[in-house]
Amino acid sequence: MALLIVCRGMNPKRYEQAFAELATDLDVRCWPDAGDKGDFRYALAWDPPPGELKAYPNLEVIFSLGAGVEHILRDPDLPDLPIVRLVEPNLTMRMTEYVVLHVLQHHRRMLDYQEQQRRSHWRELAQPGADEVRVGVLGLGALGLDAAQKLAALGFQVAGWSRTPKNIPGIAHFSGEDGLDAFLARTDILVALLPLTAETQGILDRSLFAKLAKDGPLPGPVLINAGRGGLHIEADIVSALEEGDLWAASLDVFEPEPLPETSLLWRHPRVVITPHNASISDERAVIRHVLRQIAAHEAGEEPQHLVDRERGY
Ligand code: NDP
Ligand code: OXD
Repeated sequence: MALLIVCRGMNPKRYEQAFAELATDLDVRCWPDAGDKGDFRYALAWDPPPGELKAYPNLEVIFSLGAGVEHILRDPDLPDLPIVRLVEPNLTMRMTEYVVLHVLQHHRRMLDYQEQQRRSHWRELAQPGADEVRVGVLGLGALGLDAAQKLAALGFQVAGWSRTPKNIPGIAHFSGEDGLDAFLARTDILVALLPLTAETQGILDRSLFAKLAKDGPLPGPVLINAGRGGLHIEADIVSALEEGDLWAASLDVFEPEPLPETSLLWRHPRVVITPHNASISDERAVIRHVLRQIAAHEAGEEPQHLVDRERGY
């Protein structure tokens, strides 16, 4: 049994090395020089070249190297095989770190204090308590739910929005298109942790920003996008910042990536940019997750965290 690592835009060697440490009996090879295509039953993929996976006649399961799967689903010739996405505690923990860091950064007005520090200016700014600030998490899945719960534990008023209704103690919940406006109207800090699908593409636009709460304790609404760049319209973020529909933004994901040098976002004083690293799992944690799912498949069980192609996530 062989496993193919096929990824573009990231170094496959770190995953090959982790397999060598954790699964000495597994034959792991990296695209593009992987040898006989008939040898492979499993593929671990990130942004595989369109048409590539179809060329492996004995493939049984495709593993996504990420929690998101749009990089696999956009292949028009994708074979009809189970796709397992990445869901594991190390990834979740790191995303929660990112979300809590950025919510607190804006809540505690760190951009303003950094600006004051550049001018050696000693001035205390008005500071609401966390219990006065309403955080809204778009996408209440494996990542959004954990971040929401940790923020609630810090005292924030937290709500979540998802496709289907949920009942989560301590988290106000809104669902579907019908629930979106009410969710936005009670949100001071908006955290986007949605997958990129036909339905969510471009959802973070000017009309959505205009619906965020304007009566909160912060100087204005804040956007934190760690989902996908395709969720937001970059020009709308810039104009919303200029015209007051947004007060600040933390952005980890962009369309395209890397963010072009010419992007106005790079130089905007109220934007914090990170290079799509909100959550990158430890390689060994990723490989342990893959090995658990392979073991389940080999035992005749259905792997966990299967992608629903109709929904797109
Ligand atoms: P999940 O599939 O577990 O959760 C997705 C959530 O989004 C669910 O709550 C789902 O609703 C909701 N959702 C999907 N479509 C809609 C819609 N049309 N309307 C309302 N809600 C919707 O995903 P994860 O939490 O594991 O990951 C989320 C995303 O985070 C990934 O897809 C990826 O793009 C991004 N990510 C980014 C990383 C980074 O480093 N920046 C790292 C890892 C992931 P429901 O619960 O009803 O199904
Ligand atoms: C993911 C990512 O989807 O890292 O896991 O973006």
